[in-house]
Amino acid sequence: MVHETWSNRAMFILAAVGSAVGLGNIWRFPYLAGENGGGAFVLVYLACVLGIGLPVLIAELIIGRRGRCSAVASARSVARESGASGGWAIVGWLGILAAVLILSYYSVIGGWLVAYVPITATGTFTGADAAAVSARFGAFLADPWVMTGAHAVFMAITVGLVAQGVRKGIEAAVRVLMPALFLLLVLLVVFAMVEGAFGEALAFLFVPDFSAITFGVVIEAIGQAFFSLSIGMGAMITYGAYLDRDTSIPASALTVAGADTLVAILAGLAIFPIVFAAGLDPSGGPGLLFQSLPFAFGQMPFGALVGTLFFLFSLFAALTSSIALLEIVVSWAEEHRGWPRAQATLIVGAISFVLGLATVLSFNRLSGFAPLGFLPGLEGKTIFDLLDLLTNNIMLPVGGILIALLAGWVMKQSVIAEEYGAGVLRGPWYLMLRYVAPVAIGLVLVFAFIA
Ligand code: PFF
Repeated sequence: MVHETWSNRAMFILAAVGSAVGLGNIWRFPYLAGENGGGAFVLVYLACVLGIGLPVLIAELIIGRRGRCSAVASARSVARESGASGGWAIVGWLGILAAVLILSYYSVIGGWLVAYVPITATGTFTGADAAAVSARFGAFLADPWVMTGAHAVFMAITVGLVAQGVRKGIEAAVRVLMPALFLLLVLLVVFAMVEGAFGEALAFLFVPDFSAITFGVVIEAIGQAFFSLSIGMGAMITYGAYLDRDTSIPASALTVAGADTLVAILAGLAIFPIVFAAGLDPSGGPGLLFQSLPFAFGQMPFGALVGTLFFLFSLFAALTSSIALLEIVVSWAEEHRGWPRAQATLIVGAISFVLGLATVLSFNRLSGFAPLGFLPGLEGKTIFDLLDLLTNNIMLPVGGILIALLAGWVMKQSVIAEEYGAGVLRGPWYLMLRYVAPVAIGLVLVFAFIA
């Protein structure tokens, strides 16, 4: 089945950036940096984006444009085209499983944004001190019903947008919202620069303590690079399938990775000056965004308005990512099961919603429940922690290795050359893809989990 293509090239870039920029940049990157030693993590992260993420991103787009189908069928068809086994479809299967699991908790955290729009708009944080801001977040986490409602709203919007199809849904959502979020982030960084502990934040984020770099930190950084760039699970294969022939794949990949990294760094620069000025714990975990920025909104002029817009724009950024997650699964269900689009989106959305309830409960009723706590290293890990670990630190890196092998070793070099185009740096890229990416990911996986 040949898909409709993007209405024009700029829309493809916007949609790919829209899928990359999301909770990963604004919520996950800052709290992982805070938990993993600041500068050490940021440095390793940047190296992973450049040395592993970018090569794999290019490979995914190539597989997608060559295969012109869902991730499963594209992986199968490019392998067969080069005389290899159709079993490479496993790349797609793994991606579909990862997408359903990630969407389940992505929607829950997206729901936090949904809830924080009205909470901020009603002036809750105006003049509030850091303790009050944290207490408000604690109260929000403690109530599974409100969180489930917000999760339902987020999932319903995602389903609605995907059900409408590629152009109308995705393109419209991205066109206005990406630039708006970017401008708002710049504004917040300026505020943090003037009012927050900016020097301390800069030192924390950019002066690496090399002794803090462990295999654990490196696997977190690899996982975050994959999550943030939306790779390792076939999302970019799926988007690449809609890409026209004369768009340069390496140039597109560079734009996506550049914009994605810029937004993550901006989020860090907005959040950490506030963390230090308010005396918050940088290693506070998933609540960091929701405990730091609302404090800043409480102190700045027009803070309720600025804060409301921030959560609203972040919500839009999260939605342009969640639609990509859902699209991976829906494009497969349409193609292989022959389900009508509306039905496919509803069913997949419903499954992910139900799975998401485990994440909702991980923050309240089941916060003390560690299902695999008897295993070394997994003590105290909630269901959400385990899902996060399984998807980001295991499934996406393994998917990345498979994609690198498929494009680097299985597909014919002539096909690769044709899809990569006349762009510069094909030689170095190919070396990174064939040797550096799979070996580096493989070694880190082994040392982080087995050694
Ligand atoms: N890249 C998104 C983020 O950083 O929030 C998450 C994501 C979206 C991952 C879509 C994978 C995907 F297919």
